[in-house]
Formats: sequence, structure tokens, C-alpha cells
Amino acid sequence: MYRLRAWQPGDAGRLLSAFSEPLLAWQEPRVPTTPAEASAWIDRCRDLAEQGKAVGLAVVEGDGPPLGHVQVAVTSRRHGVGWVSYWTHADARGKGVATAGARLAADLGFGELGLYRLELGHRLNNPGSCLVARRAGFRPEGIERQKLLYGGERFDTGTHARLATDPPEGVPETPCGT
Ligand SMILES: CC(C)(COP(=O)(O)OP(=O)(O)OC[C@H]1O[C@@H](n2cnc3c(N)ncnc32)[C@H](O)[C@@H]1OP(=O)(O)O)[C@@H](O)C(=O)NCCC(=O)NCCS
Repeated sequence: MYRLRAWQPGDAGRLLSAFSEPLLAWQEPRVPTTPAEASAWIDRCRDLAEQGKAVGLAVVEGDGPPLGHVQVAVTSRRHGVGWVSYWTHADARGKGVATAGARLAADLGFGELGLYRLELGHRLNNPGSCLVARRAGFRPEGIERQKLLYGGERFDTGTHARLATDPPEGVPETPCGT
């Protein structure tokens, strides 16, 4: 069973291993490439949580190493809105890690963080992420033109949201943009 836990100093090597994958490094805004940068990345997760800005946690199975990462960023405390993101280590993909992580992130966002609406977006040519969103109960809300910027290129984006009142089930698995 997957669960979320805080990133720990001892996870720095695992984090570097995850970001050594070009695809992940391409999509992420802050890419640690040294042990010191990985430690700083982990410290930043803790700092953002302490500041109430975002909670980023490792997805693990039992007492195992991090398999992935999920984050809930508070985009509007005034309106109770957050932004969810996730990634899975290349060696742990296709095993439901991101789906479980996104569901747990939603529980965290609606529960501990007291948010009402959680949003997320994926480039249209990322059907795996679309499936994760849908399986975690994030309803499709349309396409936003060139919303996401990766590697200097802008991408049309499938936008999803889940409300605190939405169950995780019942979202059709048809990919956005088809
Ligand atoms: C997208 C990503 C998070 C999925 O993580 P994961 O842990 O493998 O996801 P899950 O196992 O929970 O589910 C993925 C599903 O999408 C499917 N999938 C993956 N790539 C796919 C593709 N190109 N086309 C269609 N389906 C795809 C998988 O087969 C799986 O479905 P299945 O269980 O029926 O086999 C992972 O590939 C990743 O980290 N990518 C890089 C970062 C990223 O894109 N993050 C999301 C940003 S919006």
C-alpha cells in the first residue's frame, strides 16, 4: 500500500537518481544535480510546508525508498484553491504510484490543508498524466492554450479539477484533446 511521507535527508541519492532522467529534468523547474542541491531541494520542501505555501511529499510503499513525489501548492487561500503536481521515478512507473499519490494528495488538500478546489494540468501529449488525473478523481475542464512551459516550449494543456465534494471515482478515461 502506498503512502505519503516527508522527504528525508537520506533520500538525496534517490532524488538525484530520479532527476537523472531527461524527461523528468525537462519538466521540472528546479533540478538538483549534486548531493548538496538535492539536500537543498528536500529542505525547500520542508520550508514551503512550514510557510503554508505548498506540501511536497514522497510516495513510498511501506518503509521503502521514494517511488515518486506529489505536491499540493496553495494557489489561493482566499478561495480555497490548490494546484496538484506529481512525478514517478522512472524505475517505478506503471504501478499505480502516481494515481495513488494523486489520490492521497487530494485527501491532504481537502483535509489537512482545508482547500475546496484542487486543480492540475498536463500537456496534451502526456496521456499517462491525464489518466492519472482522471483515476484520482480530477474532472476534465477543457483545454487551456499554451499554459505550460517546458524546456522553453509552450504546450496546450488539459486542465482538470476536483472539488472537495467530488468522489475519486466516476471520471471517464478518454484522454483530453481526443
Ligand atoms: C505521468 C507519470 C506521473 C505517471 O506515473 P505512474 O506512476 O507511472 O502512473 P500510474 O502507474 O499511476 O498510471 C499511469 C497510467 O498511464 C498509462 N500510460 C503511461 N504512459 C502512457 C501513454 N504514453 N499513453 C497512454 N497511457 C499511458 C500507464 O500504462 C498507466 O495505465 P495502466 O495502469 O492502465 O497501465 C510518470 O510517467 C511521470 O512521472 N512522468 C514524468 C513527469 C510528469 O509527466 N508528471 C506529470 C506532469 S503533468
